[in-house]
Amino acid sequence: MASYVAAIDQGTTSTRCMIFDHSGQVVSVDQVEHRQIFPRAGWVEHDPEEIWSNTRQVCAGALAKADLVSSEVAAVGITNQRETTVIWEKATGKPVYNAIVWQDTRTDTIVNELSANGGQNRYQAKTGLPLATYFSGTKIRWILDNVEGVRERAERGELLFGNMDTWVLWNSTGGPDGGLHVTDPTNASRTLLMDLETLSWDPDICAEIGIPLALLPEIRSSSEVYGHFRERGVFGGVPIAGILGDQQAATFGQACLSPGEAKNTYGTGNFLLLNTGTERVISENGLLTTVGYKIGGDDTVYCLEGSIAVTGSLVQWLRDNLGMIGTAPEIEEVARSVDDNGGAYFVPAFSGLFAPHWRSDARGAIVGLTRFVNRGHLARAVLEATAFQTREVIEAMNADSGVPLKSLKVDGGMVSNELLMQFQADILGVPVIRPVVSETTALGAAYAAGLAVGFWGSEQDIRSNWAKDKQWDPVMPAEKREQEYRQWEKAVTKTFDWVS
Ligand code: G3P
Repeated sequence: MASYVAAIDQGTTSTRCMIFDHSGQVVSVDQVEHRQIFPRAGWVEHDPEEIWSNTRQVCAGALAKADLVSSEVAAVGITNQRETTVIWEKATGKPVYNAIVWQDTRTDTIVNELSANGGQNRYQAKTGLPLATYFSGTKIRWILDNVEGVRERAERGELLFGNMDTWVLWNSTGGPDGGLHVTDPTNASRTLLMDLETLSWDPDICAEIGIPLALLPEIRSSSEVYGHFRERGVFGGVPIAGILGDQQAATFGQACLSPGEAKNTYGTGNFLLLNTGTERVISENGLLTTVGYKIGGDDTVYCLEGSIAVTGSLVQWLRDNLGMIGTAPEIEEVARSVDDNGGAYFVPAFSGLFAPHWRSDARGAIVGLTRFVNRGHLARAVLEATAFQTREVIEAMNADSGVPLKSLKVDGGMVSNELLMQFQADILGVPVIRPVVSETTALGAAYAAGLAVGFWGSEQDIRSNWAKDKQWDPVMPAEKREQEYRQWEKAVTKTFDWVS
């Protein structure tokens, strides 16, 4: 009898495989980072073949670390960095270009051209999204326009598009030899090409953006048996039974299963998702409407999302580009060497600004500098940027939903930073709550897969597995909180109109 479920988490900076037991506890993890390729300012790419090779490596690694064999795993779920775009040859599996990463801003001109006719929100009613460089649609169009011969080959049906979920699934299930060209609605809802109501590709939008339907994968649910790992190789014969974009997976793993429940994940970026049930709430305040999950034949559950492009990756930037810290966790110690930010505010608009601003013309700025400001103050400003940006999206969410959030469930790498978590509670004025298993992204994908094969019986099992680890309550006086936030808002305006 198989006693475990595994999840592959193909993220922005690394690929992981995690194995969970029935109580949702982590049994083993293996993880490998991949190269971040920056060919020009604003461009970010990944090598899809490197990622696929890492995927196989971590799956084998996780099994070996737990001393398990494939037959002890009931199912595997896939979760992934969303929007990142890869196009490859059906016959060989060779990518025609590197994967263009969600943070990449090269499609700015395409976005502006499309917005000129009908405005930035021309597709919002159908897709839930504004026109922005973030989503896959314009990235596909860029590859079709800029890589020789690709448009003709796409029209002839020789090429396949996928986000990283589809890339991993297609390769796992046989590649050129019968690989499944399938995605789920959470990933498809980030392309700018899917109708949120019907969960199918919208032929009009595809035609307007210039994308042949032949490229696009079949959209299935987020939880069902799509197929099996090819017989030879790691997880041979095990069903692949769940696909969720990483932020939706974290929402599921955090058991935000009822309308009004929300989580905030602190990864390379921050992503706050609020479950709105079967209702598609169209934002008037700069948030996205997105598919939360669709479990088999059940009704589709939607979310409002506040996406922030740069949070954890700002800490990495401090480490890699400035050498100001040796390791990412070291930032907490440096930040603790001072009592406050010394008047400095860091707005990390490295990919423009996402929610709630959607300004691709913005670029990063550090403001409020004086001779007094030192390394510790800058470290604080870096951490505080994450908390301030989170407050911006929560204000938008409160305005859209009309109901102020009472507490915030958090997860992701940065939630081990106690200084940040306290500041987050202070700047929001509500408690911040961390679960025992903070690896909710992989856990959510494991749940989706496990539900499909009967390993878990119902969503009630997910609720019962959730447990609180720690809570931070606000202690900052309200007046100080508002004053700090006003300074932040002023700092944000300094980043606008930088790229013309
Ligand atoms: O939308 C982008 C998001 O899915 C990336 O998440 O955790 O890989 O930074 P992460």
